[in-house]
Amino acid sequence: MSVKKITVVGGGHVGATCSQLLAMKELAREVVLLDILEGVPIGKGLDQWESAPIERFDSLVYGANDYDKAKGSDIFIVTAGVPRKPGMSRDDLLKVNAGIVESVSKEIKRVAPKSIVIIVSNPLDVMAQVALETTGFPRERVIGMAGVLDSARYRSFIALELNMSVEDIQALVLGGHGDTMVPLASYASVSGIPLTQLVPQDRIDAMLERTRKGGGEIVGYLKTGSAYYAPAAAAVQMTEAIVKDKRRILPCAAWLQGEYGMKDLFLGVPCLLGEGGLKKVIEVELSAAEKAALAKSAEAVRSVIAAWKALG
Ligand code: LAC
Repeated sequence: MSVKKITVVGGGHVGATCSQLLAMKELAREVVLLDILEGVPIGKGLDQWESAPIERFDSLVYGANDYDKAKGSDIFIVTAGVPRKPGMSRDDLLKVNAGIVESVSKEIKRVAPKSIVIIVSNPLDVMAQVALETTGFPRERVIGMAGVLDSARYRSFIALELNMSVEDIQALVLGGHGDTMVPLASYASVSGIPLTQLVPQDRIDAMLERTRKGGGEIVGYLKTGSAYYAPAAAAVQMTEAIVKDKRRILPCAAWLQGEYGMKDLFLGVPCLLGEGGLKKVIEVELSAAEKAALAKSAEAVRSVIAAWKALG
């Protein structure tokens, strides 16, 4: 199963890693890597296509500078914008990235009004709102990538701690994609065995903290940009769930309409993804402390929304 065309907007490290993965998994007949930067996406797209005979994929991957090449795309993955540098929070990117995501969203609406949009640009939760408001698409078709990445980080740390396969490790991270994110100890398990039975609480606490700061840890090493392999893998996993109508439950940023007692903001929650995009937000039971942490995370997102609205 695959769709006709998927366009990745933004030809930087995240975008280019996405297009290569999409092509290698043959999730679309055509994969377009789109960026306004002259030449670069075209060179990267051609380079990726030249790997096709070796990797043996038939998704035609190519780069473009022009949105007309994205016409009729079934899905967009939006990675456009600037990444953070050491010492910056994701929220520091608001002003410049809001303008970029707004203009990208206008183009998406023009060339593919029926498409599904997965937002990766930061500050994630508010950039998803910029896309939702600018395109006017229903919430089923605008979804933010964060929870899959944050829980993959958490799962990778659990695997290191236990020296056990990543395949058997399940975990859930809710909330905004920032320092107030809410990695849940209560929903982490290894082959169904609660994590709390396998790891002492102080080690769990250390992993939760490392997860919250996971993006910043990579920025600290890279210095000139942020993570891209895991973020791209996460966006592509969401895409695959939609393209193949897998009906997976993945933590994603969804436009809440009363779920978890909240309304009119994007926040990371468990989402059922399948054909058409977001099929349902799943509400899970939370402890009083987890509820309070989620409310605090929502407050942090709301303050970025306010800063965005104040830009005018
Ligand atoms: C991160 C960026 C992509 O968490 O937000 O690495």
